[in-house]
Amino acid sequence: MSAEKPCANPKTIDAAFAMADAAEPPRKRTREVVAGRAEEVPVGGRKIVQVDHLSIGVFHLESGFHAIRNFCPHQGAELCKGTVHGTYRPGAVTEFVPALPGRVLRCPWHGWEFDIVTGKGLYDDRGRVSTYEVRVNDAGDLIVVV
Ligand code: FES
Repeated sequence: MSAEKPCANPKTIDAAFAMADAAEPPRKRTREVVAGRAEEVPVGGRKIVQVDHLSIGVFHLESGFHAIRNFCPHQGAELCKGTVHGTYRPGAVTEFVPALPGRVLRCPWHGWEFDIVTGKGLYDDRGRVSTYEVRVNDAGDLIVVV
């Protein structure tokens, strides 16, 4: 019996996963904007806010609040209106290894996928969407740093 072959382009996919796993802080920004109340966004929820010319999606994942630009680099769709799910690491044809549970955002237009936490694309190790620091202040406000 022959061994099963891995899926296509395993090096490219592995590189994308390696980037998605890397702990890299968002670019340094200093302007703090109140994006609403934290209680408005339960775990699993999201809120899209407008800050000047920027549309930003604030997601409440199991790991906390995360903010990502609401713009797909492919053809400009409102990325943050896409579905949130996990994905699978590459492996043998019949092997399914779950990865990035609950933190993969799929563009509603053509399905490009991004890690909500890092903004990195899973389709290509060079793809990325801006992410923003987000926290909850003592008054329960969601603060996004842009
Ligand atoms: S516009 Fe997002 S995948 Fe095409």
